[in-house]
Amino acid sequence: MRILFIGDIVGRVGRRMVKQYLPTFVDKYHIDFVIANGENVTHGKGLLRHHYFELIESGVDVVTLGNHYDSKNDLRRYIEQTDRLIRPINLLHPFPGEGSAVFDVNGVSVRVTNILGSAMMKEEVNSPYVSLSELLNDEDEEEAVVHIIDFHAEATGEKICFAYAFDGKVSAVLGTHTHVQTKDAKILEGGTAFISDVGMTGFADGALGFDKNTVMNKIIYGEQSRFDLPNEGRGLFSAVVIDVDDYTGKAKEIFPIYYQEEQ
Ligand SMILES: [Fe+2]
Ligand SMILES: [Fe+2]
Repeated sequence: MRILFIGDIVGRVGRRMVKQYLPTFVDKYHIDFVIANGENVTHGKGLLRHHYFELIESGVDVVTLGNHYDSKNDLRRYIEQTDRLIRPINLLHPFPGEGSAVFDVNGVSVRVTNILGSAMMKEEVNSPYVSLSELLNDEDEEEAVVHIIDFHAEATGEKICFAYAFDGKVSAVLGTHTHVQTKDAKILEGGTAFISDVGMTGFADGALGFDKNTVMNKIIYGEQSRFDLPNEGRGLFSAVVIDVDDYTGKAKEIFPIYYQEEQ
């Protein structure tokens, strides 16, 4: 089967990009299942209920999150009523919802898991390695042929080491969070697809999807500044396509999509 994974969708331009271009990519690459990271969907931080449904209506099958899982209070109230929204599995404190779930895709079981990295991240989390090992060894958990991990983490070193640790045990370890696509998509020896970061889907001409001036005010000039988001402008669509064997769950191919609209 072919799975399309969309990197961090940021704000209104990101939502427009998904709505406008997802059907074309699904058609062009014969996609069976679409996963998208939605942690920045609502004005750059978090995911409101109506935006979750907007993504589903645009053709996304499962939405994952990241360090901004709790940036909008609304999510705590609605996550348990959804069946296609996954929050990080290795949170220290109890939080509603699930960190991993299994979906039926044309008769093949596909598990999707969201994990936060521990290196250079502000959030304190349970060890990503221990959390995924426990999930894989949990006999009460439903077995799935295909298993896609959204590893939401900052450090490239942590990402590749994490992927090596689970090579052959999961179908893909896909990095998210940095909003910049890396050029290292590959299949590891054991058949696990990997990329350090899928990249960002949103406003192309800012800083990580945000208005560049508001980011510069803080990062360069050290001023108090709230990152702002443009409502319109040239968009970028960052994703990867993974081709997975329906019987073994091993990845056969991974390639990136990095589509920018014309100036
Ligand atoms: Fe993000
Ligand atoms: Fe993030």
